[in-house]
Amino acid sequence: MKSVYSVAKINHFPYICLSNTMENLKFDKHVFICVNQRAEGEKRSCGEGHGMALVTAFKKTIKDKNLNIKVRAQRAGCLDVCHFGPTLVVYPEGIFYVGVELKDVEEIVESHIKNDIPVERLRLKKEHY
Ligand code: FES
Repeated sequence: MKSVYSVAKINHFPYICLSNTMENLKFDKHVFICVNQRAEGEKRSCGEGHGMALVTAFKKTIKDKNLNIKVRAQRAGCLDVCHFGPTLVVYPEGIFYVGVELKDVEEIVESHIKNDIPVERLRLKKEHY
């Protein structure tokens, strides 16, 4: 996909606008894993489960596989689908996974991150919301 650059004059100053194309992304895959933790008695949160353990597992699995692409897995705040957590989202596709267990990490990395095939059984679907 080609980049689209445009220059606009706003208040007599030139502004360069860069489109959000795939080639401008820093990572081929970027995994955001919710680690949000609420106080006891508040609504469910991914951090009470194993959000942080998922971050560690993703980082280790990605490293161990020595993938030929640029990948980053990192902590994230609430992704707003708390009830179905633990939750994560993989960009650039913007695919949300819910109810993710530690045993699912290998499959997500191998299938989605490495081979671009989302793991359907873990995806957030319309019936979730
Ligand atoms: S607390 Fe994880 S999605 Fe909201």
